[in-house]
Amino acid sequence: MASRKFLTITAASTLLACLACTAVAQDKESVMKMREQTMKTMGGAMQATGKFVKNEGGTVDDVKAAAARLTEAASKDIASLFPAGSTGGESRAKPEIWTSWDVFAKQWADLKPAAAKLTEAAASGDRQQIAAAMGGVGKACGTCHDQFRAPKQ
Ligand code: HEC
Repeated sequence: MASRKFLTITAASTLLACLACTAVAQDKESVMKMREQTMKTMGGAMQATGKFVKNEGGTVDDVKAAAARLTEAASKDIASLFPAGSTGGESRAKPEIWTSWDVFAKQWADLKPAAAKLTEAAASGDRQQIAAAMGGVGKACGTCHDQFRAPKQ
């Protein structure tokens, strides 16, 4: 009797552990999708801004919208975009992200004031100011990518 009960409990907890295990795997996938989406949104915003800066058809309104999207993305909680160990497979996230977390998180935080400058510049409508502010944002992206994003495989 006692051993049967034990077996039942063992089976049940193995099942629970497996469920948790799948949930973690799915979580990792959805987290990685979510951050890919966030990064791509920012990439698109930078492209839109660049079109205006290079006089290739973008408008000041496009830049304003881009700055708003950048600001929103930069406000996301970096810890939920990069939970511990969320790399592997196609991901180019370097393991150093989690061993140098403070540096990584600081670089993410630096994005916000850079995006704020772009918002200001967009409001002025001045192409040179916008170009300079875009340079600032680009630098914030690049600093982190150089250090924490692995080269394309
Ligand atoms: C604090 C670090 C950090 C900052 C700041 C940052 N990124 Fe990233 N970005 C990463 C990492 C790490 C990856 C790789 C993620 C992966 O492959 O799992 C990445 C990936 C990307 C990708 C590829 C997405 C994909 O999977 O297709 C784009 C595009 C991108 N970033 C754009 C930007 C832009 C534009 C900015 C600035 C506005 C920016 N990033 C700022 C760390 C950062």
